[in-house]
This record gives sequence, structure tokens and C-alpha cells, in this order.
Amino acid sequence: MPRSKLVILGLIGLFVIIQLIPLNQTNPAVIQDVQAIAEVNSILRTSCYDCHSNETVWPWYSRIAPGSFLITRDVVVGREHLNFSEFSGMDFYDSTDVADEIIEMLDSGKMPMKPYLLLHPDASLTDSQTRVLIQWAESLYPK
Ligand code: HEC
Repeated sequence: MPRSKLVILGLIGLFVIIQLIPLNQTNPAVIQDVQAIAEVNSILRTSCYDCHSNETVWPWYSRIAPGSFLITRDVVVGREHLNFSEFSGMDFYDSTDVADEIIEMLDSGKMPMKPYLLLHPDASLTDSQTRVLIQWAESLYPK
């Protein structure tokens, strides 16, 4: 068999084998959904929930390795940093930190993540949506 054919067969075999690696693509129970006015809720759901909630939509392509590794990593790590499905009982320091971080991410335009926006153009924030979210985040500061 020519070498090029072997290489192609090897790559196909590798592609098939990596599909078998189990991934943590779960949606755990919603413990306490974030409480906010409808406009804020709707923006968060469209632009943030896929990575920062337990209500992730896992499209077909998120199941196919190796892309699935990157998508799963973003959701697992995203939830660790901020989870709108477990948004209760924030104490003084937590709510200050969370508000700071959300405002920082929005001000710098780092969130939603750029690669995500290529596949979800509707998740990109307009200036006025960014302002609405920042105003809401400011309301999280302890009074
Ligand atoms: C495609 C997945 C994805 C989306 C969509 C997304 N994030 Fe994130 N977010 C992450 C990941 C992953 C991290 C962890 C830090 C990193 O890897 O950059 C993170 C971190 C954060 C943090 C914590 C930053 C820190 O310094 O700890 C905040 C706050 C945040 N995101 C807010 C948002 C907001 C608000 C939205 C919606 C407007 C959003 N994110 C949309 C994936 C996402």
C-alpha cells in the first residue's frame, strides 16, 4: 500500500477513535436562576448562557471531536468562573467581585468570546445591550 494511503487511513482511524473519548457535556439542574429584569435576562440568555449557565445548548457540531474538546472546555471553565444558574447567596465580597468582573469583561469587549460569535452572530452585543448589562452589573454592588 502506498505511504499516502496509509497516512490517510491512519488519520481516519484517529478521527474515529477520538470520537470515543467521553466528554462532560451535561446540563446540571438549575439551582437558582439569576433574578433580573426581562431585558437583562434575555440578553444574558442569548449572549452568555451557553457557557455561563446549566442550560447550555449543545449543537450537533459540539459533539464532534476535536472541536468538541474546545467547546466543552469553554463551558466547563466558563461555568467555574460564572454560573447564572447558581446565582444565589452571594455575600458581600462575592457580589462585588462578580460585578467587577462582569463590568471588566463587557468594557474590554472580551465576552462573549470571539470564536463563539463566529458561530452565534446573534450573541454579539450592541452598544446599548452592553450598557444595559453594565447598569445591571452595577446594581449587584452591595448598597
Ligand atoms: C463561548 C463561551 C462563553 C460565552 C458565550 C461567554 N463566556 Fe464568559 N467566560 C468564558 C470562559 C471560558 C471564561 C474563563 C476565562 C477565559 O478562559 O477567558 C469566561 C470568563 C468570564 C468571566 C470571569 C472573568 C474573570 O476574570 O474571572 C466573566 C465575568 C464572564 N465570562 C462574563 C461573560 C458575560 C457577561 C457573557 C455574555 C455577555 C459571557 N461571559 C459569554 C466563556 C464564555
